[in-house]
Amino acid sequence: MRIEGKDYRTIWFENNAVKIIDQTKLPHQFIIKELKTAKDAINAIKIMEVRGAPLIGGTAAYGIALAVQENNDQEFIKKISEDLIQSRPTAINLKWAVDRMMKKISGINSDQVLDIALNEAKEICDEDEKFCENIGINGLKIIEEIYNKKKDTVNILTHCNAGWLATINWGTATSPIYHAHKKGIPIHVWVDETRPRNQGANLTSYELNEEEIPNTIIADNTGGILMQRGEVDMCIVGTDRTLSNGDVCNKIGTYLKALAAHDNNVPFYVALPSSTIDWDIKNAKDIPIEERNSEELSHVEGLDKNNQIKKVLIYPKKSKAMNLAFDVTPAKYVTNLITEKGICEASTEGLKKLFNK
Ligand code: MRU
Repeated sequence: MRIEGKDYRTIWFENNAVKIIDQTKLPHQFIIKELKTAKDAINAIKIMEVRGAPLIGGTAAYGIALAVQENNDQEFIKKISEDLIQSRPTAINLKWAVDRMMKKISGINSDQVLDIALNEAKEICDEDEKFCENIGINGLKIIEEIYNKKKDTVNILTHCNAGWLATINWGTATSPIYHAHKKGIPIHVWVDETRPRNQGANLTSYELNEEEIPNTIIADNTGGILMQRGEVDMCIVGTDRTLSNGDVCNKIGTYLKALAAHDNNVPFYVALPSSTIDWDIKNAKDIPIEERNSEELSHVEGLDKNNQIKKVLIYPKKSKAMNLAFDVTPAKYVTNLITEKGICEASTEGLKKLFNK
């Protein structure tokens, strides 16, 4: 998708290094950063220079390729693979991508192992781009249906950033929106600010602006009243881990939005590539929920009068804060899942049928 009219993907390999857009600097600065070692990749994931389930999967895949480039020693690569999986525990895409890479390179000692690893990492990213494009084609039908009934602007609420910046391209939740916009359907997006890191305000609104899609940032608590007033036609969000029973683990606050949608008969869709499905964990209580530094809550960052980025404390100095990064929305509150293979019920039957499991 575009930034200042130029097309980008979120990650690519060039001159023996992985290139990423440093998302900690957006929207105020657009900086392309180089990851030269596997440790650089682990750090970029931890400090969220890259974030969003599919993109951290892609970065982890390239992290393994960087490890091979540095030192093609089995023990070293194994340790890197473990550190990558631990770098952010909730999104299943990390483990999925690392396992796929390790399987691909296991037992290969020839000079070709680096090429094999790089090709597989690129394949994982290309596949994600294709899957997200298909999510858009499938989700477009839902938006079209609402538009054909309403014959007026379709108002869509989204939480966090499940946009192209969270994936390789297109995004998951935003892909149907981009496809509808390209088709000429009038869209307006309510963008949840998404405290504490403000991925909605800093990233979703930014990327929608760049694609010239009308959007309005709202405080995270505003969605409820908008739904009561009939100003939301549908909600669409992404997911970091979807259980085989259709429960959805996504950015903290998603659950509250799903409850409000349920109470107001607003359809609540979750968009995902199959790499986000955890076929193993059966109970939502077993999903590792990442708890991040409370400084993300107590401090905010922004531009000062002199256009300098400043970080300031907004809480009482003595207060404690707690920063859980994800919550789980039970399947019963999810209208449907939108995947690269089609749309299905958020249930064991729905997912099994779609993915032939
Ligand atoms: O903490 P983040 O910014 O990595 O969280 C991202 C989300 O919660 C997204 O909604 C999710 O990864 C789906 S991305 C297509």
